[in-house]
Amino acid sequence: MRVFVPKDAAAIALGAEDVAAAVQETAEARGIAVDIVRNGSRGMFWLEPMIEAETPQGRIAYGPVEAHDVTSLFDAGFLDGGSHPLRIGKPEEHPFLKRQTRLVFERCGITDPLCLNDYRAYKGFEGLKRAIEMGPAATIDDVILSGLRGRGGAGFPTGIKWRTVAETVAPQKYIVCNADEGDSGTFADRMIMEGDPYCLIEGMAIAAVATGATQGYIYIRSEYPHAVSTMSEAIVCARREGLLGERLLGSGHSFDMEVRVGAGAYICGEETSLLESLEGKRGEVRAKPPLPAHKGLFAQPTVVNNVLSLASLHFILVEGGKAYRDYGMGRSRGTKPIQLAGNIKHGGLFETAFGITLGELVDDIGGGTASGRPVRAVQVGGPLGAYFPPALFDTHFDYEAFTERGGLIGHGGVVVFDDTVDLWEQARFAFEFCAFESCGKCTPCRIGAVRGVETLDKVRAGINPAANLALIDELCEAMKFGSLCALGGFVPYPVTSAIKYFPEDFARRLPAAAE
Ligand SMILES: Cc1cc2nc3c(=O)[nH]c(=O)nc-3n(C[C@H](O)[C@H](O)[C@H](O)COP(=O)(O)O)c2cc1C
Ligand code: SF4
Repeated sequence: MRVFVPKDAAAIALGAEDVAAAVQETAEARGIAVDIVRNGSRGMFWLEPMIEAETPQGRIAYGPVEAHDVTSLFDAGFLDGGSHPLRIGKPEEHPFLKRQTRLVFERCGITDPLCLNDYRAYKGFEGLKRAIEMGPAATIDDVILSGLRGRGGAGFPTGIKWRTVAETVAPQKYIVCNADEGDSGTFADRMIMEGDPYCLIEGMAIAAVATGATQGYIYIRSEYPHAVSTMSEAIVCARREGLLGERLLGSGHSFDMEVRVGAGAYICGEETSLLESLEGKRGEVRAKPPLPAHKGLFAQPTVVNNVLSLASLHFILVEGGKAYRDYGMGRSRGTKPIQLAGNIKHGGLFETAFGITLGELVDDIGGGTASGRPVRAVQVGGPLGAYFPPALFDTHFDYEAFTERGGLIGHGGVVVFDDTVDLWEQARFAFEFCAFESCGKCTPCRIGAVRGVETLDKVRAGINPAANLALIDELCEAMKFGSLCALGGFVPYPVTSAIKYFPEDFARRLPAAAE
C-alpha cells in the first residue's frame, strides 16, 4: 500500500511532517504495511497537506489533512479510496489540474522526487541523450525553434544566449542556474527543485552539451533549505549513475555541478550580482558589456538561466522544439507556470499555454479573493511589476501584451489584493523595497528610492500634493532611464500604475474621526 505525503516546503509549513508521522503510527498500530512516499506538491496549496492513496482505481486524494484527521481517514478506509469529508477524488480530475497544460510540471507531485527510476519512467534523461546524439549545433537550433524565452523575467531567447556562449572560445565555460527566486508571490522554481530535481539537472546537462560547458552551479536562496537538501541529494544520486561527471551517458562530454546557497539579497537574483556572489564577493551589479555569455563567472563564458527555462528543456529535447512551439500566442511560445498568490481563494501553481487572460486566472481559476471581498488590484511580475485593476483583466498572459499595457509578466507571480488595499502604501513600499535592496552602485536607484519614499509621504500629508506627484513622475523617469539595472529601472512600474489606476488613494487622508 503506497501513500503519498508531500515533502514540499508549503505542505510542510501546513503540517505535512505531522501527517506523515500520524499515517506511519496509525498504520503500525493497526498492523497495516504502508509505504509512505514523500512526493512534491501538485500545486493546489489550499488543499495542502494533500495526501494520496494508491488504489486499484488510481490515486485518490484527501485534503487538507491535519494529523488529527488520520484516524478517521483509516476508519473510512482511505487506503482503498473510501468516502470521507476530506476526499477530493482523483487529483488529475480536479478542475484546477485538469485545465492545465503541464509540460514542465508533468511529474511534480506524481513521482518520488529522488527516485531515478520514477524519473526514467517519464523518459527521464532521454532529452540529454537526444542532445548528445544531435550534437551542439542541432541542439541549439532546436531550442531556438522552440521559441523558449528566459523564464526569470527578461524573456530573452534561450537558444540565442546559448549560441553566444557556444561560439565564444575559452578554456572553461559554465552553466549557472538562477534559483534565487526573489519575486513576491513566486514559488515555481522551489517546487521544481523539491518535486522534480532531475528535470533541472537534465536541463543543465543539456545546456552544457550544447555550449561546451563542463561545470555548473545552482544558486539557491538561503530561504529554501528543503530545495537545497533535495537538489544536493539528487546531484549525488545522478553522479553515482553516470548522469553527471566524466563522459555523460558514455559520450565525450563531461559535466558536473554543485549547489551554492545565497545570503538573502534580492539583487543577487540579477545575473551579474549573482555571479559576483558566486565568486565570493558582495552582490553588486556589473556594468554590461561584457555580457555574461562572453565574460561571466570568473571571466569565462557563462550561461545564466532561470530554473524554469532549464526545466523546460527535457520536454523540448524529447518532443522536439516544434512540439513546444505549438503552444502559446504571438512571440510567447510554450507554457508558463503561473503562480497565484496573495489574497486568493485557490492559490497555487497553474501551468498553461501563454494566452490565458488575467481575469480567467484570478476570477475563474483562482476563485476570487480568499477574504470574499471584491478584487481591487493585482500585481503581476514581482515587486517591480505593475498593479492592474479589474478593468485590465482582459490582458492576455503574453510578454508583449503585458508590455503594451505598461506591465511585465516577469517570473509569472500574480499577487491578488482585495478592496481593503491602499495603493499609496503599495507605491511607497515599492520605493522602500528598492531603497532596502539597492546594491548602491548607481545614483538614480540608491538616492532616488529614498527620495521617492519622502515625496510620497509629503503627498499623503497633503503638502503640495500636485507638485509632489509631478516630482514622482520626474523621479520615475530618471530611475527608469538612468538606473544601471532593472531594480531601480523597474520601480516606476508599480509606482506609476498605482497612481494611474488608483488616483483616489493618493489624495490626502483625513484623520479618522474620534469615536
Ligand atoms: C533585481 C533583479 C532580480 C532578479 N531576480 C531573479 C531571480 O530571482 N531569478 C531569476 O531567474 N532571474 C532573476 N532576474 C533576472 C536575471 O537577471 C536574468 O535575466 C535571468 O537569470 C536569466 O535567465 P533566463 O534567461 O533563463 O530568464 C532578476 C533581475 C533583476 C534586475
Ligand atoms: S539600479 Fe540599483 S540595484 Fe541596480 S545597479 Fe543601480 S544601485 Fe544597484
